[in-house]
Amino acid sequence: MKGEEIANKFVRFFEKNKHKKIESSSLLPLDKTVLLTTAGMQQFILYFKGEISAEKDFKSRTLTSVQKCFRTSDIDDVGDETHLTFFEMLGNFSVGDYFKKEAIGYALDFLAGELGLDKKRIWVTVFKGNENIPGDLEAIELWKHYGIPEERIFRFGTKENFWGPPGTTGPCGPCSELHYDLTKKACVKGKKCGPNCDCGRFIEVWNLVFMEYEFTEKKEYVRLPSKNIDTGMGLERITMILQKKENIFETDLFNDIINHIRKINYKNTKQNLRFERIVADHLRGSVFLICDGVRPSNVEQGYILRRILRKSISYLNLLGGKGDEIIDLVEFIIDKYEGRYKELGKNKGEIIGVITEEKDKFQRSLDKGFIEIEKLIRETKNKKSKRLPTKEIFQLYDTYGFPVEITKELASKEKLDVDEEEFEELFKKHQEKSRAGVEKKFGGVGDFGEKVARHHTATHLLHQALREVLGKDVRQAGSDLTPERIRFDFMFNRALTEEEKKKVEDIINKKIKECLPVKKETKKFKDAQKEGFLAFFRDKYGEEVSTYSIGNFSKEVCAGPHVTNTKEIGRFKIVKEKSSASGIRRIKAILE
Ligand code: ALA
Repeated sequence: MKGEEIANKFVRFFEKNKHKKIESSSLLPLDKTVLLTTAGMQQFILYFKGEISAEKDFKSRTLTSVQKCFRTSDIDDVGDETHLTFFEMLGNFSVGDYFKKEAIGYALDFLAGELGLDKKRIWVTVFKGNENIPGDLEAIELWKHYGIPEERIFRFGTKENFWGPPGTTGPCGPCSELHYDLTKKACVKGKKCGPNCDCGRFIEVWNLVFMEYEFTEKKEYVRLPSKNIDTGMGLERITMILQKKENIFETDLFNDIINHIRKINYKNTKQNLRFERIVADHLRGSVFLICDGVRPSNVEQGYILRRILRKSISYLNLLGGKGDEIIDLVEFIIDKYEGRYKELGKNKGEIIGVITEEKDKFQRSLDKGFIEIEKLIRETKNKKSKRLPTKEIFQLYDTYGFPVEITKELASKEKLDVDEEEFEELFKKHQEKSRAGVEKKFGGVGDFGEKVARHHTATHLLHQALREVLGKDVRQAGSDLTPERIRFDFMFNRALTEEEKKKVEDIINKKIKECLPVKKETKKFKDAQKEGFLAFFRDKYGEEVSTYSIGNFSKEVCAGPHVTNTKEIGRFKIVKEKSSASGIRRIKAILE
């Protein structure tokens, strides 16, 4: 049975049992407490909370869906047998209609009855209770009632068997999971080898959440107005079981994508196997995210997309695919899924456009990154050290966007270490710094981050262009950037002529077109000055400063944030030039 047929069978089974089919919601959820849709229940949160009526909106309190989901929590496990970022979740829901007994009955009926799985290979977990919520004895009795013997029922705590809320607040509850016994062979743990054992014997397939609680802003669990059911089964995993495959990438949901990647013709090594899986998962995820309106950026959903997309590009590079292979693959993925997801067909051009642009933007930096990392590896080995220096690796990430995962892959090939903790620390510090700057300015979180970065870099170009056109006495007196415009004050004592303004614009746009890399370094302030970095606000700097150079054109001390290449800036245009104070001129400019 194909994955698609399994999904259809699921929906038909629940329709037959009086559930109403609801279309998948977007990967961008209405619920603003989360960045992306991670579960089927998210589009029903207000119904579970009793704020709106399912009866009124759907003429049914029992619902079923196949939901597009994206989870970042498993991102580092992608490449193994069972983990994905994007996946499809099969779910059935009850908004104050049926509860535990029916939910458990349906689940067993579907798996054993409808799909024909061996019931003896189904093991389950139940919630054993915590300081807030009692253990779920009722579920244990019900499983037994339906023929699952005591020895196949395992009890777990909050982490495994209390689900939700998906964001900071919202519906949640104890849950009970169905796990499938893949090998029927206990590991060394003997009788203790059961669901959640890490030996690979079991795979979690279906989660039944008994959604009775709401976790509130006061951090309390209060009862929801009704007892609800929320379930989720990963389509890729159930397909793997039914198709008797050893991993999700060999199911029909993935194997042709993998084969397509293999056209690149690389060696059939264990490492390459993992790489091709990462490409398949991340690229499929990127396609669906872009389709739902996410665009690569440095914040929030856009950052997640940029990260997986750049990882896909990098891993494809490692497999030998540095050219158009990626676009070919993207088209293949769209064609494969557009039957079930019509929006993919409709947005095909746009999806390909976004991916092409990001690839073009990134590939050059990546090439440079590869050169630099190889140099770093050589130096490290020459020094007979076993560890790559963290500061340098971070700089590679910071300057070229070089994914740390790739650094790790290359290091491990050479039997070198990467200090992940130290890297994380640098990363966090850096994030806090740039976020603090943006927040201070706009009183909000980094929503505007990307535009601000473009404006920041454009301001450096403007500064330098003014010095070239009007003379080296020109110096910045202040600036104020919003996501909408650049305002730049500088010391000069007359109005600019039309010709001078045009010259300044032309220089800036020429530099943008030249695709100059923007390079960030950390230096002692004194050294930065010696090396000719412009810095006119001496009292604002600490001993160590960040410096930004834009090609050989501009060098300035600045806290950022900046784009990594001038081509990200767009077209620069002066909209106004006037006097701001005695001896100070003010330019307002925009990026088109
Ligand atoms: N909402 C539950 C889950 O995502 C079913 O596991």
